[in-house]
Amino acid sequence: MTQSAQDTILIIDFGSQVTQLIARRVREAGVYSEIAPFNAAEEAFHRLKPRGIILSGGPSSVVGIDPPLPPDAIWTAGVPILGICYGQQAMAKQLGGTVEVGDSGEFGRAFIEISDRCALFAGLWREGETHQVWMSHGDKVQALPAGFRPVAQTAGAPFAAIADDERRFFGVQFHPEVVHTPDGAQLIANFARHVCGLKGDWTMAEFRAAKIAEIRAQVGKGRVICGLSGGVDSAVAAVLIHEAIGDQLTCVFVDHGLMRKGEAEQVVSLFKGHYNIPLVHVNAETLFLNGLAGVTDPEAKRKFIGKTFIDVFEDEAKKVGGADFLAQGTLYPDVIESVSFTGGPSVTIKSHHNVGGLPARMNMKLVEPLRELFKDEVRELGRELGLPDIFVGRHPFPGPGLAIRIPGAVDKAKCDILRKADAIYLEEIRNAGLYDAIWQAFAVLLPVKTVGVMGDGRTYDNVCALRAVTSTDGMTADIFPFDAAFLSRVATRIVNEVAGINRVVYDYTSKPPGTIEWE
Ligand code: XMP
Repeated sequence: MTQSAQDTILIIDFGSQVTQLIARRVREAGVYSEIAPFNAAEEAFHRLKPRGIILSGGPSSVVGIDPPLPPDAIWTAGVPILGICYGQQAMAKQLGGTVEVGDSGEFGRAFIEISDRCALFAGLWREGETHQVWMSHGDKVQALPAGFRPVAQTAGAPFAAIADDERRFFGVQFHPEVVHTPDGAQLIANFARHVCGLKGDWTMAEFRAAKIAEIRAQVGKGRVICGLSGGVDSAVAAVLIHEAIGDQLTCVFVDHGLMRKGEAEQVVSLFKGHYNIPLVHVNAETLFLNGLAGVTDPEAKRKFIGKTFIDVFEDEAKKVGGADFLAQGTLYPDVIESVSFTGGPSVTIKSHHNVGGLPARMNMKLVEPLRELFKDEVRELGRELGLPDIFVGRHPFPGPGLAIRIPGAVDKAKCDILRKADAIYLEEIRNAGLYDAIWQAFAVLLPVKTVGVMGDGRTYDNVCALRAVTSTDGMTADIFPFDAAFLSRVATRIVNEVAGINRVVYDYTSKPPGTIEWE
C-alpha cells in the first residue's frame, strides 16, 4: 500500500468473526489499517510503527490457560490503544485489573448509560444519555487497572466502556464495529482521528492504484483466467485485473445450471456488451447436476460445486493455452467464514465455494484482489472503476447458486420450480420499488410437502420460503419488513403460477443467529 507507516492503525486480531469490520470502519474514517494475528503482532508493530492500535474481540477467555495476548511492547510505546470486547479484557488483565468468567453473559442488543465524558464519545455521546450497542460476551472486567475510570455501563457490564486519559487507552465491552451499534462507526472514527490524530484522507482511488500495482507485481507476464459469475464481485475483480494486465486475462463463465432465471443469458450479453474482455461461456449443467444427485449435506454440496468449478476452470485454462493464475472475486466475508485459526483465528461456519472447496491439487495460483473488502466497498470500487449500475447494484448471489437454496437433494425439476418462484418474487420487489432497499432477496424451495386445497381439489406440494434481508456487509443482517399486502400478493402469485408449490412462508430470522443463505 502507498500509505506511510506513521498514518497506520494496527488491528491485532484475536479471532473475532468481525475483525475485518474494524478494518473497514477505520477505512471509512479515511485511515489506512493493517490486521495482524496476535501471534504476529509484535513484528507488525515494529514494522508499521502505527499511530494507533485496536485489539479485536475473540472467542478465547483471558481467564483460561495461556490466553492469546498482545505483545507487551505496545503498552509502553505511547500509542493510543482501543480494546474491543476480548481486547478490553486482555487490556485489563495485562495492565493489572481482573476479569471474571460471566455466569450469564450478554448477547445481542443492549443499552449503555454514559456515566462520564470520554474522548471516544466526543461530539457523540454525553453524560446521562442511553445508547444502543451490540454485545456478545461471557467474561467481563471485574476490577479496573490503575489509571482507568469507567465511562459507561450496562445492566450486565459495569465497565461497558473504560478510559485511561493519560495513556490514551480505551476499552469497550460492546462491539462498535457492527452496524447494530448505530454510533459505532463514529466511535471508531473518533478513535482514529480525534484520539490518534490522523487526518483521514485515505480513499478508494488509492486502494485501486495500490491493487493494480500489486496485481502486476504478482502476475508478472503470466496468464490469468477469471471466473465470471455475473455478480458484482467477479465483475469488479475482472475489470480491475483487466486494467492491471490487459489481455493477459481471459474470463470464463461456468454455467452450472444453478443460476437464476435468465441470468446466464444476461451475464453473457451484458459482459460482452460492456467490456472488451475475452469471455468463454461453458455450459456445464449436466456435469453439476449429475454430481449433485442425491447429495443432501450442505457442506458436501458446497465442496462438490467448488471442486467441480476448479475442474472446469482447469480444463478451460488448458484450452486457452494454459494459465498460471486463477482470479476470483472472493470477498472478506467469504474468507472469514471459511478459515479457522491459523490464518486469522475464527471458527468455520460455511465453506464458501470460492475458498473452502479448492482442492489441494489445484495447480493455478490465486489472484483475489477483493479479499479484504466487504460488499459495499466492492460496489464503491466498482463505481470507482466506472462499472455500469446494472452490475454494481445487483443483489449478491452465492457461488453455489440455487443448490444451497434447495435444502436436501437437488435436481433440475426443483431448480426449475425455484427459478419460477424466485423470478416472481424479484419481479414484485422491483415493481414495488424495493429492490435497492434490500441487500438480498430470494426464494428457497423446502423439502417439505404440505396439504393444500385449490379449486375443489386437494394438493400435496412443496413449501417455498421467501427471504429478504437488509445488511451493509453480509456479516450481520436484519429481515426486511415487507407489509402484509406485499407478502400475500407474492404468495398468491407463486401458488397460482408455479406448479409444485402450494404454500409460501416468510423467513423472519436475523443474522446472527441465522445465516443469510439457508445452507
Ligand atoms: P451467509 O449465508 O453466510 O451469506 O450469511 C453471507 C453472504 O455471502 C453469500 N454467500 C456466498 N457467496 N460464495 C459466494 O460467493 C459462497 O459460497 C457463498 N455462500 C454465501 C450470501 O449470498 C450472502 O450474501
